[in-house]
Amino acid sequence: MAGLGVENGTAGLLQTPSAVRELSRDDFDGFTMRRGGTILGTTNSGDPFHYPMPDGSFKDRSQEICDAFHALGVDALIGIGGDGSLDILSRLSTQGDIKFIGIPKTIDNDVGLTDFAVGFDTAVEVATEALDRLQPTAASHDRVMILEVMGRDAGHIALSAGIAGGADVILIPEIPYSVDHIAKKIRNVKEEGRNFALMVVSEAVTAQDGEKREVVYHGGETRYGGIADYLAPQIAAATGFETRATVLGHVQRGGSPNHNDRLLAQNLGVYAVDLIAKGSFNRMVAWQNREVTDVDIQDVVKTCHTVNVDGTRVHTARALGISFGDQ
Ligand code: F6P
Repeated sequence: MAGLGVENGTAGLLQTPSAVRELSRDDFDGFTMRRGGTILGTTNSGDPFHYPMPDGSFKDRSQEICDAFHALGVDALIGIGGDGSLDILSRLSTQGDIKFIGIPKTIDNDVGLTDFAVGFDTAVEVATEALDRLQPTAASHDRVMILEVMGRDAGHIALSAGIAGGADVILIPEIPYSVDHIAKKIRNVKEEGRNFALMVVSEAVTAQDGEKREVVYHGGETRYGGIADYLAPQIAAATGFETRATVLGHVQRGGSPNHNDRLLAQNLGVYAVDLIAKGSFNRMVAWQNREVTDVDIQDVVKTCHTVNVDGTRVHTARALGISFGDQ
């Protein structure tokens, strides 16, 4: 089976000629699996159904992508991405009658119907290591350290890294908090004789006014960011601890993937090709109950996998004495 790689996601099919290149076994030598990012490039902006044009207007360019795909003369499309990308690709595949297989890949781990998406585990490892590095300096300076992590509207990275990295407080978008409850927990830590505390906050946690903090980038694109800096002075005022904020940012998305992500990617990739060989389409490969399986892509895009607030990890965290700032 030969393959073509589309460069820069859907943007590659909006170029003339389409930005594609042949993929061969040489592309998958021992170095590829050790690399973060993508060898084909990607985009996470420019929704083809509402595409920003240079004059400031928006245009539906979806049919151009479907036509460009069919012009390649390939049998099927494998799309690798998070919930937004899979949603766009599944809509394109319906509209353009494209035989589609999705592979979940996002550090946010918010794709429905799969326990894990590729990239999540490595991001948790990076965030956990950040807490390991913040702990000694927190202890040396008698400080509260707040680590802001990515995850979009799902708190998976904050929750897992917070537990693994020994946080005292974990704030996730799924559980409303109050500064008073956080301060109570940190004062308890102090009363018990500890001179520092660690907090992890997920980027989409809201401020007290109910709004998410955002950063506006050049060109007007907005992304979540800034909640740790927003909280730090309030925590300092409420606890008397010097408080510092660290925004972990894109280091969570780079570097060499860990062994779990490598194995997950390899398992999902092989299964995706098997599905195509079997003639089974419009599915997403998924990791469920220690196995690779496949699910209807339409069911995936209807589901958002946020943190189950009644689930094991939240229960475990509470039992360990970690506060979610809600009581
Ligand atoms: O969806 C992955 C993600 O890393 C989010 O966790 C984060 O909010 C966003 O992408 C950042 O996007 P960008 O790389 O465009 O700044």
